[in-house]
Amino acid sequence: MTTQLLTTSQQDLEKAAELIKAGGLVGIPTETVYGLGANGLDPEAVKKIFEAKGRPSDNPLILHLHGAFQIPDYCRDIPDAAWLLAGLYWPGPLTMVLPVRDNVPKRTTGGLDTVAVRCPDNDATREIIRLAGVPIAAPSANLSGKPSTTTAEHVLHDMDGKIDAIVDGGPCRVGVESTIVDLTGPVPRLLRPGGITPEELEELLGQLVIDRAVTGEIAADAVVRAPGMKYKHYAPAAEVLIVDGSREAAARYIRERFTGGDAVLCFEEELPLYQGLSPVAYGREAEPITLSAGLFAALRSLDRGDVKRIFARCPVGGGINVAVRNRLRKSAGFRIVNAESGDENEK
Ligand code: TXA
Ligand code: MG
Repeated sequence: MTTQLLTTSQQDLEKAAELIKAGGLVGIPTETVYGLGANGLDPEAVKKIFEAKGRPSDNPLILHLHGAFQIPDYCRDIPDAAWLLAGLYWPGPLTMVLPVRDNVPKRTTGGLDTVAVRCPDNDATREIIRLAGVPIAAPSANLSGKPSTTTAEHVLHDMDGKIDAIVDGGPCRVGVESTIVDLTGPVPRLLRPGGITPEELEELLGQLVIDRAVTGEIAADAVVRAPGMKYKHYAPAAEVLIVDGSREAAARYIRERFTGGDAVLCFEEELPLYQGLSPVAYGREAEPITLSAGLFAALRSLDRGDVKRIFARCPVGGGINVAVRNRLRKSAGFRIVNAESGDENEK
């Protein structure tokens, strides 16, 4: 199959919507990462998503809606909190898990009795959803296990020849996947950190349980609420080692160990400390949104045969840094060293 490259012109969005209606696969831009979209109500179309990505079939998909008015079409027993959150953060990087109606196929929900819904903050993709007249099921458009896709070129790299089209909407603004909050229990539970921060959610909802998957390592056979959180993720071919500690201590630690096949992933502010080591910066530590926006592109740029080990610097603190840390820790398989004490695997 030849993968068509489409723009965000009205004519191309109509083409994309036709492809979705016909059961095809289309790479779609969102404010978080590019999605691999199909008609979320068509089990055969959804099956193709899993095949193109090489994704385990028990890992459910997010249904992308045109607006909050569609929530009752696919969800039931909708709590007030869902309306509150949708009113404040949609369109935006927030996914809500709610009890599912039986018109949503099991292939989409992975057989769960809940479904994840979100309304992306991207006019082109919302227009495709409107024109197609169906909710679009879309995981991130990367090959399973690889860093997510934040440009149309990334999608082409992973999916060329496997999908019908890619709509190029430019680079993604947030750069890490949406925040997922489960609203099916007595207390809202954060399943995945993202662009809407834990602090914002807690303030609005009054209470929020942070799932263990957000901070800690999950065993492959563990029962987890967001099935996708248990799989190895975001991993370039090289081994990633997070080096915590002050700028100076980290630079000393890395310089002492750096050999052929090594690479450094750091903050822009730190570039001078790694002169001669061809460091790659993913954003400015002083401006966390640049870190989230740049992380996956930087990991992808280091996914090359000659790079065997990546020393990575990871931001601390709250806000969107919680999401950046979560993705980087997963890509490192939770290998973290403290440059000051030399201790490994501090969580
Ligand atoms: O920002 C995003 O959310 C992007 C863009 C494309 O919208 N999508 C995305 O999809 O990140 P994906 O499939 O890569 O990640 C979806 C996560 C997985 O960890 C999955 O297990 C979880 O959402 N999930 C989906 N449905 C769920 C449900 N009913 N209950 C709990 N977790 C669910
Ligand atoms: Mg993904």
